[in-house]
Amino acid sequence: MQNGSSSRTVGIDAIAVHVPRLYLDLRDEWARVRAPELGEASVEQLVGKVTKGVGVTEMAVPDAHEDSATLAAMAAVKAITHAGIDPRDVGTIAVGTETTVDQSKSIGAYVLGMIEEHFGVELRRVGAPQFQFACIGATYALESAVNAFRAGEATKPYSLVIATDVSKYPLKSAGEYTQGAGAVAMLVSESPRLLALDARVAGTITRDERDFFRPNGLSTAVVDGKYSIDVYLGAIAEATEMYLERARAELGRPGARIDELADHLLFHVPFPRMSEYAALRVLGEAWRADGSLRAALAAAAPQLLSPELERDPAVRKEAEKALAKSVIFRECYERRIEPSLALSRRIGNIYSGSMYLALASLLETAADRAALAGSRAAFFSYGSGASARVFSGVFVDPQRAYVPHVTQALDGARVPLDVATYERLHAGPSSDGPPSLAQPGKSVLPPAGEFALARIGTDQGPARTDLGYRYYEWVAS
Ligand code: CAA
Repeated sequence: MQNGSSSRTVGIDAIAVHVPRLYLDLRDEWARVRAPELGEASVEQLVGKVTKGVGVTEMAVPDAHEDSATLAAMAAVKAITHAGIDPRDVGTIAVGTETTVDQSKSIGAYVLGMIEEHFGVELRRVGAPQFQFACIGATYALESAVNAFRAGEATKPYSLVIATDVSKYPLKSAGEYTQGAGAVAMLVSESPRLLALDARVAGTITRDERDFFRPNGLSTAVVDGKYSIDVYLGAIAEATEMYLERARAELGRPGARIDELADHLLFHVPFPRMSEYAALRVLGEAWRADGSLRAALAAAAPQLLSPELERDPAVRKEAEKALAKSVIFRECYERRIEPSLALSRRIGNIYSGSMYLALASLLETAADRAALAGSRAAFFSYGSGASARVFSGVFVDPQRAYVPHVTQALDGARVPLDVATYERLHAGPSSDGPPSLAQPGKSVLPPAGEFALARIGTDQGPARTDLGYRYYEWVAS
């Protein structure tokens, strides 16, 4: 049943991305050093695996003065500036992250402080919560912001939703080449200029899983790599089923397949190849249920029609491998998924922001951005541990609402790292005590035109206590 508040059009008004300037080229010195360490047959084998099998060529690496809070604040400043809005019109700063900088305080409060300093404004009457659930945290933050507008509870015209993370696995592990760092900031509003989110269609599932997590005290994630892929695919398939039940009814398209409802399929992208695995699962399920595609599938991937598929993971694997090579899949993939992967190939996994980076990638690389207007994007959000949420939205005026900036930043000001420096940054500042109390190490590139972590508080006494407080500052260029 609809009422006045639930029929409000709410969505994403603007989106901006920030990534560190430093990066590691995975085709270069790193591959020469790691190939023997990882037991690969040759450097070419490792480069082939990483660039084609995993799909990533470069990884963004945070400098010593950067962390999840500075990345978030930088993305927020860009979103506010690109949208041309007054920061005092922001009523909530909601941050999704799984690499927080404090065990208690919300990153949102640090971001608020940085935004206040940068724009010279006071932003007291705002909420600034942090949402944590692995890579799906920002999606829950977005849901919360959207629901506040739909319920008529928002007190200001905009909410800022920020996804920010530094993805870190142990060196010399299979996770190492799926790291990255970056933040995506989105302004949520009524009558959004970029993307109007469909109401009452989202499918959300959660199950208690051990695929990927980071116990307290560890700086790198614990991951069961192959299993994490299986959990991702299972969770996404289940959430898609729920989305389809609701979307078919809500959008008045009974029986419609996912690729009939949505023009673009934007997945959570821990690494670009994962989007292909996910597309095979989601489209495979859609197509095998459609009798009109039986003949085409019988020719392209006959195993997909086998009744054994549900029971035997090996049959499913074979079926999806065959489908991956088929013309029907490749055409769909090139059109609906590939444009969303260009940025991740050069940035890596930014955890909670990865799916929103896919949205930015689609906007950034579109030959005709105006032509996206009226098309629908389906979003497949996933967080290990594990939860998936599938939802959708329709582009409004992407030509005017989106300011291209990411490709230019990647092409222009990035600086490659040698392996020794990358490993120094990966280790973090040296310290006799807890790493969170260590002063930031020496930056590779001195901060310029950006927020920087300046120092960590050291006082603990009757007059003043700031032990471990993080002092951020804007450093002019
Ligand atoms: N040329 C081309 N392709 C090659 C190749 C070469 N020279 N060598 C290998 N490949 C292919 C393999 O055949 C394989 O492709 P298929 O799946 O089509 O067979 C692909 O490269 C990957 O090879 P491996 O399986 O051997 O790769 P790996 O052992 O390095 O593991 C990984 C890959 C599991 C993703 C690992 O990097 C990892 O653990 N990453 C972290 C966990 C992760 O990202 N999980 C994703 C789901 S969880 C999630 O999404 C949450 C999150 O953000 C973390």
